[in-house]
Order: sequence, then structure tokens, then C-alpha cells
Amino acid sequence: MAGLLLALPVAGLAQATAGKFEPAQIEAGRAQFHRTCAQCHGRNMINAGTTVYDLRKFPVDQPERFQHSVTNGKGNMPSFKEALTPEQIAVLWAYIGSRGGKEN
Ligand code: HEC
Repeated sequence: MAGLLLALPVAGLAQATAGKFEPAQIEAGRAQFHRTCAQCHGRNMINAGTTVYDLRKFPVDQPERFQHSVTNGKGNMPSFKEALTPEQIAVLWAYIGSRGGKEN
């Protein structure tokens, strides 16, 4: 009985650290990012963060905000509604939401 009680939280932890995204999605997102986003947001998301949003700081718990901003544009960022499919935006989220794969 004691063994069962101990096993449950451990299993939960293993699940939480298993990674939210598929490595293949992150890699597809990395390539897509460098085709359509890096010219403004910087190679590997590195920029001064003064006039262009620093994507390394984007809150990883706000996927809907990400999807909304990329789809409709925001401020000086154009809308990507015509340029990208929802699947392409989803792999971009895998890349950015995992901090480039570092926090997956
Ligand atoms: C033409 C330059 C440009 C390109 C290309 C660009 N962005 Fe942006 N992006 C910006 C600017 C400028 C902002 C800051 C907008 C603001 O808050 O006024 C921004 C902000 C953002 C934000 C934060 C939005 C928020 O909710 O605060 C996200 C996420 C983002 N960009 C993702 C992307 C992704 C993903 C791509 C590639 C598909 C991309 N951007 C391409 C210029 C660009």
C-alpha cells in the first residue's frame, strides 16, 4: 500500500518532465522560424529586444496569445494569416514555446 502511494507522484513527475513537444516539431519550427521570422526577431531568437519583441521571453503558458498575434499581426508585425498554415504556426509554437528546444 505504501509503495502504491509513493509511486503515483513519481509517475506524475515523469510525465511532467517528458517534454511537451515532439523533437521533430521543434526542428520543423526552427527551420520555419529562420525562413519567416528571423529577419525581424533575430537568428536563434536573439535580438536586442528594444523595438522587436524578444521571443525568448514570450510566456510559454500563453499558446493562444501566440497563435492570435502571429495569425493577425500586432503593432509593426504583419499578419501571417495568408502566409502560414495553422500547422506551420503550431510548429513555430513548438520551437518558441520550448525556448528553442532548451526547455522541452
Ligand atoms: C517585419 C518584422 C517581423 C516579422 C517578419 C515577424 N515579427 Fe513578430 N514581432 C515584430 C514586432 C515589431 C513585434 C512587437 C509588436 C508589438 O507589440 O507592437 C513582434 C511581436 C511578436 C510576438 C509577441 C506578440 C504578443 O502577443 O505580444 C510574437 C509571439 C511574434 N512576434 C512572433 C513572430 C513569429 C512566430 C514570426 C514568424 C512567423 C514573426 N513574429 C515575424 C516584428 C516581426
